[in-house]
Amino acid sequence: MIIISLRIQKYSTLCFSFVKTQIMKSRQSSDMVKFKDTLKSAKNIVFLSGAGISAESGIPTFRGAGGLWRKYQASSLATPGAFKNSPSLVWEFYHYRREVAAKAQPNAGHIAIANYEKKYGSEKSITVITQNVDGLHARAGTKKLIELHGNLYKTRCIKCKEVLENTESPICEALANRGAPDENIIGSDIPIKSLPHCKKPGCGSLLRPHIIWFGESLEPEVLEKASTEMEQCDVCIVVGTSSVVYPAAMFAPQAAARGAIVAEFNVEPTPATTEFHYYFEGPAGTTLPLVLND
Ligand SMILES: NC(=O)c1ccc[n+]([C@@H]2O[C@H](COP(=O)([O-])OP(=O)(O)OC[C@H]3O[C@@H](n4cnc5c(N)ncnc54)[C@H](O)[C@@H]3O)[C@@H](O)[C@H]2O)c1
Ligand SMILES: [Zn+2]
Repeated sequence: MIIISLRIQKYSTLCFSFVKTQIMKSRQSSDMVKFKDTLKSAKNIVFLSGAGISAESGIPTFRGAGGLWRKYQASSLATPGAFKNSPSLVWEFYHYRREVAAKAQPNAGHIAIANYEKKYGSEKSITVITQNVDGLHARAGTKKLIELHGNLYKTRCIKCKEVLENTESPICEALANRGAPDENIIGSDIPIKSLPHCKKPGCGSLLRPHIIWFGESLEPEVLEKASTEMEQCDVCIVVGTSSVVYPAAMFAPQAAARGAIVAEFNVEPTPATTEFHYYFEGPAGTTLPLVLND
């Protein structure tokens, strides 16, 4: 017997949704001159970015060829269940991601956004809300930044919950020379006691990456800040996100529905494209500077 059921999603929880299908209702404009005019008169601008903006910096997205690490789907390791099952394997994966991101440089897309804020930040409210955890927006110079899903260079104690910045490489001795993405490497055997641990007196518990994993809730104050910016923006630029990871995926469609102008920058259409006013196809490192640089 096949049971078809509808799941009511708790939208503060990070989750994938492939349920959404769209029929092309209308054609999006790709008139850059017109959009630049709109941007000029805008007072509150939100950039909503995803993994695609960092693709040209050499950081794999979760979709497509880069979505695999060893034989694992990257998104399947970004879960509390995977960490419970093998903290060693998940720490190897995150050690690898920390090393890749540390060697990467912000690209022309990150830089165009940061320079735009530098130039117009005193006359307009300009906010970057990112799903990325790689820190590249901040390294490009973005100041008003909301990191929805945490940061690769922060740890959180599983017991006392203390969040600390940590840019050490490797984060602990046992992870040195680990994390290679080679698909022939099976499992991971680092003893738990050799993984990163809390240094707080009286605690000493296991640390985890301070990342919101699939199935977990966003931090309420972060979600609140992002929601407020989304409610106030008159223009939203959605860049390099597949718009399938909730709750971020509903931000821009909601803004468009209440009348904000939304422009999407991506290399291919997404399930949300038809809900937006503008669609600019191409790598963000090329298209964003065309719109943001004078
Ligand atoms: N760099 C990172 O920090 C990073 C990397 C991988 C995954 N993640 C996490 O995984 C989840 C994935 O969701 P997501 O929507 O951010 O990413 P995603 O992997 O689901 O989708 C990436 C999107 O970027 C587009 N894209 C690829 N190259 C591009 C380019 N050069 N210019 C413009 N667009 C391009 C793709 O077409 C796709 O729509 C998020 O929760 C995020 O935190 C983060
Ligand atoms: Zn602790």
